[in-house]
Amino acid sequence: MSTVLVEERADRLVVTLHRPEKRNAIDAGVVEELHAVCARLEREPRLMLLTGGADGIFAAGADIAQLRERRAVDALAAINQALFARIRALPLPTVAAVDGPALGGGAELAYACDLRVCTARAFFGQPEVRLGIIAGAGATYRLPALIGEARAKELLFTGRRVLAGEAARIGLVNRVVAEPAELLPAAHALLDEIALASPLAVRLTKLAVDAPAAHPALDLVAQAVLFDDPEKHRRMTEFLDRRGG
Ligand code: COA
Repeated sequence: MSTVLVEERADRLVVTLHRPEKRNAIDAGVVEELHAVCARLEREPRLMLLTGGADGIFAAGADIAQLRERRAVDALAAINQALFARIRALPLPTVAAVDGPALGGGAELAYACDLRVCTARAFFGQPEVRLGIIAGAGATYRLPALIGEARAKELLFTGRRVLAGEAARIGLVNRVVAEPAELLPAAHALLDEIALASPLAVRLTKLAVDAPAAHPALDLVAQAVLFDDPEKHRRMTEFLDRRGG
């Protein structure tokens, strides 16, 4: 891999976009390498921390040089949209750690993750309409789900930037840290908390939350699977034993 660095840990992959000279703009190479990361996580489910590092850039969006040459048939190929859908559907939770700009497809990549942590100097924006296109890789549906329809429409219509403080206030990010050096530790700490839970219970919870419509039947089936899971019995016994009951 050349534009995406992957660090392997027992319970997670740390995936770092690495195309600094183009501000981590997402080109065909990045897309291909992130698909390879997804394939790995689908085969062997683990948590994922996705970041641009703590040097002041998450991702500047789709590569405008490549985008300019794309035609209708390329739009229909759903290049970024399909990748981001695959990331959203990964079996176990993902956390995006954002420092500096997350713009266009870069912001959509962060929304595709389950949770977001950012630094005080991070900002998000959807400048697509200013470039004559729509935010076609998930922002039109993930952004309303995250921050509500009216706020999402404002950001999508104006392309204005959302700074870290506002991002936290409107629910676009889960945590903001003051200093870049705190970013990755904060993202790992969030993943550490998730890692304490039963992986199967977390996996089925993610499936239920991301199900497309009201889904009481899915919740029932997920709960039925977990009720028969020895891990559930072990964890509940441990709780009861701790209390002497
Ligand atoms: N696609 C292709 N190349 C990009 C890019 C993108 N989305 N964003 C930045 N680059 C390239 C620049 O062309 C420049 O290349 P060069 O050195 O060969 O001239 C290099 O990355 C550095 O960019 P620069 O603008 O000088 O960096 P900066 O640190 O001053 O600003 C950004 C960073 C992200 C704020 C700024 O580059 C930017 O606004 N990028 C476009 C964001 C955007 O509109 N994205 C939506 C795409 S749908």
